[in-house]
Amino acid sequence: MKKIFTVSILLVLWCYGCSKKQNTGLVTNKAMVVSARIEASQIGSDIMKKGGNAFDAMVATELSLAVAYPFAGNLGGGGFMVYRLENGVAGSLDFREKAPMAATKNMYVDSLGNVIPNLSTLGAKAIGVPGTIAGLLEAHEKYGKLPLREVIQPVINLAVKGVVVTKKQANTLKNYKDIIVQTSGDSTYFAKEIKEGDTLKYPKLAATLKIIQQQGKDGFYKGKVAKSLVNLIQKHGGLITKEDLAAYQAKWRKPITFNYKNLHIISMAPPSSGGITLEEIMKMIAPYPIEKYGHNSTKTIQVITEAERRAYADRNYFLGDPDFVHIPTDTLTNDEYLKKRMHNFSFEKATPSTAVSHGNIQIVESNETTHFSIVDQYGNAISVTTTLNGAYGCKLYSDDLGFFLNNEMDDFSSKPGVPNMFGLTGAEANSIAPQKRMLSSMTPTIVEKDGKLAMVVGTPGGSTIITSVLQTILNVYDFNMGMQQAVDAARFHHQWLPDEVMFEPNGFSKNTLDTLKSKGYYINENNSPIIGKVDAILRLDNQKLEAGADKRGDDAAAGF
Ligand code: GLY
Repeated sequence: MKKIFTVSILLVLWCYGCSKKQNTGLVTNKAMVVSARIEASQIGSDIMKKGGNAFDAMVATELSLAVAYPFAGNLGGGGFMVYRLENGVAGSLDFREKAPMAATKNMYVDSLGNVIPNLSTLGAKAIGVPGTIAGLLEAHEKYGKLPLREVIQPVINLAVKGVVVTKKQANTLKNYKDIIVQTSGDSTYFAKEIKEGDTLKYPKLAATLKIIQQQGKDGFYKGKVAKSLVNLIQKHGGLITKEDLAAYQAKWRKPITFNYKNLHIISMAPPSSGGITLEEIMKMIAPYPIEKYGHNSTKTIQVITEAERRAYADRNYFLGDPDFVHIPTDTLTNDEYLKKRMHNFSFEKATPSTAVSHGNIQIVESNETTHFSIVDQYGNAISVTTTLNGAYGCKLYSDDLGFFLNNEMDDFSSKPGVPNMFGLTGAEANSIAPQKRMLSSMTPTIVEKDGKLAMVVGTPGGSTIITSVLQTILNVYDFNMGMQQAVDAARFHHQWLPDEVMFEPNGFSKNTLDTLKSKGYYINENNSPIIGKVDAILRLDNQKLEAGADKRGDDAAAGF
């Protein structure tokens, strides 16, 4: 009997070892970058190998993504960075785009009060004042080690040498070619046919980067580059002026921090909705033993879905730019409030979203953001999510400067109650005002365990960002997965409205979905072939770093 017992235990341990071994990401000793493209991860890693730190690598990685991944990597967009220094001090930087000074609350609404289709998503009127360069240079100035010249040079070299188009990239470019031509004209760089294996060189972008390398922030927000940008935007009917560019400032913000079981989570504060919504969801989930229910079991999906439903109802109603609206953060994240919020949840039956107010309003956001995670050899960690909003932003490409411009104005609620491109319904708190930042779902996040750095995580995915970050953290800490396994696992998403649970196709058993249907959940497996593209780093028990580079994209890790 004893022998059988021992053999069984060994068998279980062996099988567990096998499943852990499957899907292990790159493991390195000291430093790592995980991003949407190997070129960007490698350049970021090389910068650290030369003695640079995570903040130097941030500049190099983000700018390399603008070269290698113009789908979302950008100079013409904005984003957020959450950091944790080697001494444990945490903070965050907001370089989200802003509404131009000439923006008005009803700029996307016609005389009858109806939202004008495409005006906030396509073309120059959709552009928010870009924040990426201000953010990168602000972070570099405060925490960088290497001179800007050294950090930007490899990116200039990459732009000159060019980048080979991957299969996924060729497919996306094919899908978006007509709309890019329609918006930017038929003679820009992206108007031509681009095939897998082609090498795309960016001499104009290299020249723009050289100006930034020499002149810093002013090289983008003033002078020649600013003039060219304003001319292009105004020629296409946009509102951004040289005063808008000159006035842009990135902003250091206190991150959202909270505990979940034995973890300490550090995430992004408003104007990102990420941190607060993640906190609400995790605190609503915490009382339920999901680790016993099992990964992606019916009960686990129910608990997570119902917490998401309630948190997104709050998100859509209360959140906006904290420089313009009061956000009741303490109330929304209060333990008692969140306990009460789950009072009407039952395992027997789905709660209809109509029974979970706030209001009849919807918000819309885009999927095509990008995220990268970095840990350096000194122990600093940064989590950076940046975006053009839609794929190739508003599809307006500056041939003169070599980059696309964002369509971030669509992340405002153009009209309270009308859903945005992510189907999110927004409220007054996120209405348009001059110089205001639009609400975001970007959730760059860092996890601490026992007071030490444990994970760096984030993803693109519009409204699904928050729930993808959530599931990745739960996969590791509640369901005992390694980093790559946690990233690979099938994901689902609920956002209050529309009242449906989105599932990645073929990732969930028919039995589970049928049981959920029988309990009143609306199942949608058609809308989203992929939910999120998570790029994350896990500090292992032996202090090494394991990458989770999402197989859903061309994402890759590099390090040493
Ligand atoms: N545009 C996507 C986001 O900010 O969440």
